[in-house]
Amino acid sequence: MKTLLTGGAGYIGSHTAVAMLNAGHEVAVVDNYANSSAEAIARVEKITGKKVALYEADVADKERMMEILKAEMPDCIIHFAGLKAVGESVAKPVEYYRNNIDTTLTLLECMRELGLTSIVFSSSATVYGEDNVPPFTEDAPKGMCTNPYGWTKWMQEQMLTDAAKASAKGDDWKTPLSVVLLRYFNPVGAHESGLMGEDPQGIPNNLMPYISQVAVGRRDHLTVFGDDYDTPDGTCRRDYIHVMDLAEGHVKAAEYVIEKRKEAEARGEAAGGTEVFNLGTGSPYSVLEMVEAFGRACGHAVAYEIGARRAGDVQDSWADASKARAVLGWEASRGIDEICRDAWNWQSNNPQGYNK
Ligand code: NAD
Ligand code: UFG
Repeated sequence: MKTLLTGGAGYIGSHTAVAMLNAGHEVAVVDNYANSSAEAIARVEKITGKKVALYEADVADKERMMEILKAEMPDCIIHFAGLKAVGESVAKPVEYYRNNIDTTLTLLECMRELGLTSIVFSSSATVYGEDNVPPFTEDAPKGMCTNPYGWTKWMQEQMLTDAAKASAKGDDWKTPLSVVLLRYFNPVGAHESGLMGEDPQGIPNNLMPYISQVAVGRRDHLTVFGDDYDTPDGTCRRDYIHVMDLAEGHVKAAEYVIEKRKEAEARGEAAGGTEVFNLGTGSPYSVLEMVEAFGRACGHAVAYEIGARRAGDVQDSWADASKARAVLGWEASRGIDEICRDAWNWQSNNPQGYNK
C-alpha cells in the first residue's frame, strides 16, 4: 500500500512511518517543520533501512499539495498535520483554526479532484468533553470542548464525515470517500531503539515529556496539577498509550479501510463512509502513578510538588478500546513500565532532543 503522512515528521507521524515501513508499506511524508525537523525522518530511515519520500510543504497550500499528491497518488492519506498545544490555542485561536481547518479542507479538495479514496484522521479523546463518564465508547455523544484546539478536532471530524456522506451520492466526487477517525487518548513513550521520541519545543505542556525532562535534570521539579480530585490518590487519571502501539493502530486502520473497499467493490457495492475508533489501552493511571513508574524506569525518584488544578482539565479520561480490538484486530500491548523505559531511553540518549 502507498501511504502519505501529512505531519509525518512529528512525534506520532514519525513513529507511524516506522510501523508502516516495517509492515511492508510505502511511505511519503509532507511536513512544513512547524513543530519538527527532517532529522526525525533520517532516524526513521536508519531504524527501518528503508527510504521515505520526503516533501517540505504546507498542507494548506493547494497548488503544492496537488503536485505532491499527483506524483504520489497514495492509496491512503494519514492526516497528522496540525497545531496541537491546548494552551497556545487559547492564546492564538485564529492561527489554530486557520491551520487545522485549512489543511483538512485542502486535502479534501485535492482528494476530490484526484479521485483519491481514503483518509485516516488524527482526532482526540478531547471531543468527548466533560459530560461523558469513562470508559468512553465511540458512540458517546461528542461534548463541549474546553479550548480552540479541541474545537478544531471536533470540526475536522464533522467536515470529513460530511464529505464522506456527500461523496457517496456522487455529485462532483469521482468515488465515495472512506474516512477513519482515530480518537487518540494520551500518546506517550518512544521507539524502543532510543533514536526517536517526543521533542517538544520550549516548556513541555504534557505530563510525560515534563517528567522526562525533570528526570534528566533539564528541569527542577514537576508541578502536579491538583491532588483534590475525586480519585484514589486525588490526581487526574488518563489512558496513556505507547506511541508504537498507537502507530501500529494506524497500520491496522489503513489496511482495514483499503481491504474493506476492495471487498465492497468485489461485491459490486459502493465503498466509502466514516468509521470511528478509539485508540487507547482501556486502563487509567493517575499522575502520581506515572511519576512513580518513571522513577522505577530511570532509577531515581522524580521530584514533584503539588500545585493548583489546571484550567480545562477533566478528572478522568479513558477509552473503551473494544471496537478497535473487534474490528481492526488491534490492541495495545505495551504497559506503563515499557512506556517509561522507552521514554527514558530516548530522553537520556538525546537530552536536548533532535538536532541538538
Ligand atoms: P507534532 O506537532 O509532533 O506533529 C504534527 C506535525 O504536523 C509536525 O511535524 C508539524 O511540523 C506538522 N504541521 C503542522 N502544521 C502543518 C502544515 N500546515 N503543513 C505541514 N505540516 C504541518 O504532534 P503529534 O503529537 O505528532 O500529533 C499529530 C496529530 O495527532 C496532530 O493532529 C494532533 O493534534 C493529534 N493528536 C495528538 C495528541 C498528542 O497528545 N500528541 C493527542 C490527540 C491527537
Ligand atoms: N499534568 C501535571 N503536570 C504537568 C502536566 C500535566 O500534573 O506539568 C497532569 C494534567 O493535569 C493531567 C495529566 O497530567 O491530569 C495529563 O496531562 P497532559 O497535558 O499530558 O494530557 P491531557 O490529558 O491534558 O491532554 C491530552 C493531549 C491533548 C488532548 C487531550 C484530551 O495532550 O492533545 O489529551 O484527550 F486534547
